[in-house]
Amino acid sequence: MRKLAAGNWKMNGTAAALAEVKALLAAHPAPGCEVLLCPPATLIAQMAWTAKGSALKVGGQDCHPKAAGAHTGDISAAMLADAGASHVILGHSERRADHGEADALVAAKAQAAWGAGLVAVICVGETEAQRDAGKTLDVVRAQLAGSVPEEASAENCVIAYEPVWAIGTGRTPTLGEIAEVHAAIRATLTRRFGAEAAGMRLLYGGSVKPSNAAEIFAVAHVDGALVGGASLKAVDFGAIIAALSA
Ligand code: 13P
Repeated sequence: MRKLAAGNWKMNGTAAALAEVKALLAAHPAPGCEVLLCPPATLIAQMAWTAKGSALKVGGQDCHPKAAGAHTGDISAAMLADAGASHVILGHSERRADHGEADALVAAKAQAAWGAGLVAVICVGETEAQRDAGKTLDVVRAQLAGSVPEEASAENCVIAYEPVWAIGTGRTPTLGEIAEVHAAIRATLTRRFGAEAAGMRLLYGGSVKPSNAAEIFAVAHVDGALVGGASLKAVDFGAIIAALSA
């Protein structure tokens, strides 16, 4: 299975930030893993143009479940694809928290993404209160059950485990905690999708940085990372790509 280093720029970046993409492409012309950057929607077309002819893939951070219509401010999966995206992040905890996105909506968005030929990067993860209450695996299993549609495959679906309390905080779970959740995700997917689940990439996300990337990538069933803050700088994201390619 090819590992995946994915960057989520969140609501960061204007055209000037494409200089970081050019620097990344110059420093890592032939990465030993798949590399994906998900900029704000306003930058997808320009980033796809910048990445033309390279191995870098570009993705959106959300899409609407419907193909078109009266949904002011929303973007359809087909529009992302038309702008040059190959992937879309769905069900990120910031969307779940800021926009009240529940599992069923995330699943509908995944269907829409697949209808447009995009790979869905579906996010799951517990809050700190849920972890403290010993509910981490229950929460993650329930999110997988509700957010990942039956049509998921190794080609069209990537799962990102992002503990909410580790996002943007500099705190990460222990390697043992990451191992426990990733093994549980693989087992849950295997019960549902059989052998296909072995090929589904499981990304860890939450305060991944150059200094902790290698040890996290050594954990079983960690097939890459979904990186926020450290994906904004070519030198940091490049170091994470190098760690995953090693
Ligand atoms: P940070 O890497 O900034 O903690 O963000 C993780 C994340 O939410 C990626 O989707």
